[in-house]
Amino acid sequence: MTNSPHPDLYAREGALPGAEGTTRTHKGFFVTGTDTGVGKTRITLAVMYTLQQHGLRVAAMKPVASGCEMTAQGLRNEDALLVQQHSSIECAYDIINPWAFAPAIAPHIAAAHVGVRIEFAPIIERFNFLAAQSDAVVVEGAGGWQVPLNDEQSIADLAVQLQLPVILVVAIRLGCINHALLSAQSIRASGCRLAGWIANHVTPTVSESAAIIASIADRVAAPLLGEIGYQPELNVDKMAHTIDGATLSKACKR
Ligand SMILES: Nc1ncnc2c1ncn2[C@@H]1O[C@H](COP(=O)(O)OP(=O)(O)O)[C@@H](O)[C@H]1O
Ligand SMILES: [Mg+2]
Repeated sequence: MTNSPHPDLYAREGALPGAEGTTRTHKGFFVTGTDTGVGKTRITLAVMYTLQQHGLRVAAMKPVASGCEMTAQGLRNEDALLVQQHSSIECAYDIINPWAFAPAIAPHIAAAHVGVRIEFAPIIERFNFLAAQSDAVVVEGAGGWQVPLNDEQSIADLAVQLQLPVILVVAIRLGCINHALLSAQSIRASGCRLAGWIANHVTPTVSESAAIIASIADRVAAPLLGEIGYQPELNVDKMAHTIDGATLSKACKR
């Protein structure tokens, strides 16, 4: 099942400033990762928080989500609900997450199960709507950079269309050097700007973690924007303090 975008969405919400015919500002970031489950949502929240601490009004999107629960209001995804809660702007769930699918499987496969093709137009329209009301929009991808969204397009194509600089989340574990370098190479090959990468400690200890991080830093021509320690409980404030919010907020103020 899916929450297909409703053509009358904005009419029902009663406001449409900036959804049509507005010059896009492209302020914000597209958060991708070396894999699924690497900390994209947590770091999206931390990036939002640090931008807010720097005085910016921050909106967020989780445009494509598989792994949703059916509620009385429709399909709801945990990541999308989290970014909605942390947003500076109150808006309807459908704006944050236009494409929602129940099974926690690859989005294009989940879409095919319900006879749907994921289109970018509703995402771009909602992004413009949020961008017009905020100083920055932080968009969380789905899975990694090359995840397909339909037969022709991928997360990479979506990031290209949104014209946002990319933040790459790297889960620090065995094998992540390869995944980080491949992802960084692919992001650049897509024509996107890699704003930087964030090292996320998803386990309490990893052998040679400092050497792993240094190995990636030496080979990726984009700054290490933060190193997030292992945190069994989500603490957005604590995470945000280890992110280079000055650099990120400056990029949004330009
Ligand atoms: N810094 C961290 N410390 C401890 N656990 C983490 C950390 N980052 C992520 N996790 C764990 O990994 C899971 C996936 O994180 P999440 O942000 O949802 O990843 P993604 O959005 O990439 O799928 C979280 O629910 C949490 O259990
Ligand atoms: Mg997530």
